[in-house]
Amino acid sequence: MSVAESPSRAGRVPAVRTLAMPADTNPSGDIFGGWLLAQMDIAAGTVAHDRARGRVVTVALDAMAFHAPVFVGDLVSCYAEVVRVGRTSLTLHVEAWARRGRTGEEVRVTEGRFTMVAVDREGRPRPVPPEEGSPGPAEGRPHAPQRP
Ligand SMILES: CC(C)(COP(=O)(O)OP(=O)(O)OC[C@H]1O[C@@H](n2cnc3c(N)ncnc32)[C@H](O)[C@@H]1OP(=O)(O)O)[C@@H](O)C(=O)NCCC(=O)NCCS
Repeated sequence: MSVAESPSRAGRVPAVRTLAMPADTNPSGDIFGGWLLAQMDIAAGTVAHDRARGRVVTVALDAMAFHAPVFVGDLVSCYAEVVRVGRTSLTLHVEAWARRGRTGEEVRVTEGRFTMVAVDREGRPRPVPPEEGSPGPAEGRPHAPQRP
C-alpha cells in the first residue's frame, strides 16, 4: 500500500478518471505502461490548457516513476498540478492512482513531471498569460508609471 495520502480522500478532483480495460494490457496481462502515460499526458494537457487559456503541447517528461502495477478493472485517476510557470512553458506534477477493483484499496501507481508549452495556431510558443484574477503588468503595483 502507498504511504502517500490518497488525493481522493483529500477531496482533490482528478483531471482524468477512467477504467483500465482488457484492451489496454501487455502480453503479461497487466496494464501497458504506455496507456497509463497517455492518461497522465491528457491530465497534464487538460490542466495546462486551462492555465494557459489555449493550446499546449508536451515538450518534456522527466522523473517518471512506476511505483505499482495497474490491473484490469482498476479505476485510474490522474491528478495534475502546475508547479512552475515559465515564459511560454508550464511544469506539472502528475500522479496516477488506482482504486483496486476487488478491494477498493487506493494505490499511487505512477508519478512524473510534464513540461508543456503554450503555442499559437501555428504551433509557435506564446507567452503564458497571467493567472486569472492576478494583477496585470502595471495594475497592483504601488508605483506603476503613470501616462502623461
Ligand atoms: C514545444 C515546441 C513548440 C517548442 O519550440 P522551441 O522552438 O523549442 O521553443 P523554445 O526554445 O522557445 O522553448 C519554449 C519553452 O519550452 C521550454 N523547453 C524547450 N525544450 C524543453 C525541454 N526539453 N525540457 C523542458 N523545457 C523545454 C523552454 O525552456 C521554453 O520555456 P520558457 O519560455 O518558459 O522559458 C517545439 O519543440 C515542438 O513543437 N515540439 C513538439 C511538441 C509535440 O508535438 N508534442 C507532442 C508529442 S506527441
